[in-house]
Amino acid sequence: MAWQKRIKNGTVVTAKDTFLADIYVSDGKIAAVTTEELAGEIDEDVDATGKFVFPGFIDTHIHSRDPGPTYKEDFTHSTQAAAAGGITTVFEMPNTNPPVNNAANFDRQHAHLEAQASVDFALWGICLGHLNEMDIAPLDDKGVAAFKFFWGYAVHEETYQLMYNYKPGMEKVIPPFHDGEVYKMMQNVAGTGRVFAVHAENNDLIQTLTGEVEARGGTTYDDLIAGRPQLAEVLTVQAGIDMARATGVRLHILHVSAGESLKRIRAAQNEGLPITVETCPHYLFLAAEDYDTIGAKMKVYPPVKTAADREEIWQHVANGTISHICSDHAPHTEEEKDGSLWEIPAGMCGVETLAPLVLNAASEGKISLNDVARLLAENPARLFGVDDRKGTLVPGTDADLTIVDMLKEAPIQRENLHSKSKVTAYDGFDVKGWPVMTIVRGNTVMQDGDLRETGRGQLVTPGNKGATVYGL
Ligand code: DOR
Ligand code: ZN
Repeated sequence: MAWQKRIKNGTVVTAKDTFLADIYVSDGKIAAVTTEELAGEIDEDVDATGKFVFPGFIDTHIHSRDPGPTYKEDFTHSTQAAAAGGITTVFEMPNTNPPVNNAANFDRQHAHLEAQASVDFALWGICLGHLNEMDIAPLDDKGVAAFKFFWGYAVHEETYQLMYNYKPGMEKVIPPFHDGEVYKMMQNVAGTGRVFAVHAENNDLIQTLTGEVEARGGTTYDDLIAGRPQLAEVLTVQAGIDMARATGVRLHILHVSAGESLKRIRAAQNEGLPITVETCPHYLFLAAEDYDTIGAKMKVYPPVKTAADREEIWQHVANGTISHICSDHAPHTEEEKDGSLWEIPAGMCGVETLAPLVLNAASEGKISLNDVARLLAENPARLFGVDDRKGTLVPGTDADLTIVDMLKEAPIQRENLHSKSKVTAYDGFDVKGWPVMTIVRGNTVMQDGDLRETGRGQLVTPGNKGATVYGL
């Protein structure tokens, strides 16, 4: 027997256990996790003494904008950024141009992204109401990880780009869908058994409240939240829960930002409904008052809310309401983000800073290393049904590993980021706990911050329907 790799003397971390062991890799798969010395030649021996070896981290929410506005980002850059940041699999959002709205575009996107990928990737499918209702089952057959619905967003009719500042009456726009049509989308997706994941902000309320703010000339961060408050999220979350109860769909709330939303979601979970929720670093590490120092870079939708919301979100990370943490990597150029808070687009880079930020929270004792394995690897893999290959260290699964040095201290620095755009809210943020090696199917794609063996990422389609993941 010849081994492709051995990761030696590391501390292995799973969602449940922490123990010293060596990991043997063969043909891109985990062959053994053992304290015994196995016979056979070893092509590459990796000394992980003093390091922690995690199942490869997964980022289920990235917008590489490819094909589409690739002047902001593309898949080559976003997956190199992923590799640099310890992420072994990304899930690419479907609002590209063309979008992943039918089976033919799924195939096109598969080929287009695989040619550029440095880490493995799954594809989201988009729900566009009556515009693609016949394409939902075929997209499921092709292997989308889940379906995304931008609830409360208008999208451009030709480019499918999100309208960050939509006003009724704008031309060439697919306006936000009405509740009846949302209900039909849920019925349709329920038939596939896949997750129906929603951006949750109520556009009617946002129109009214932003109208009020604009009328009084409000331009501050508090004004931004006044136009898109907690209630905008809560209304959609609650409507989603009630429609999910009626349709049986597995509802997933994307990037939750408000504590009150989590109360509703937790209550729905306690009822036994198949409802899950994720959050992102900006809702865990930032709050409204940070705007004074960070500025418009931190504008995201839904907006980052109060410190009280942030603390409530942490509680629901700790108690298992929140299934996983992902980045909502949504780059815009420096120039685009350098305008008035009101007019600039929402979103920033995130795929490369996700794991360092979450590891830093573990260093600070907010969560355990086992929680990190649960929130960045095991749960996302189970939720979307790729856990037969991803997210664990079970022998026979892909040898996707993230090796972490919990003693390494360094600030996040924008100039070190690998994305096309370097817009981040975390420039200068001190982090203790950094990924130092990223391994995808046995290939080392990052070592000590340097990229290696790039360009070999592959599509991963679900092996099962996935599990509703909540609770501890
Ligand atoms: O801030 C955001 N940016 N929120 C979204 O929902 C979309 C994203 C983007 O694609 O720019
Ligand atoms: Zn997003």
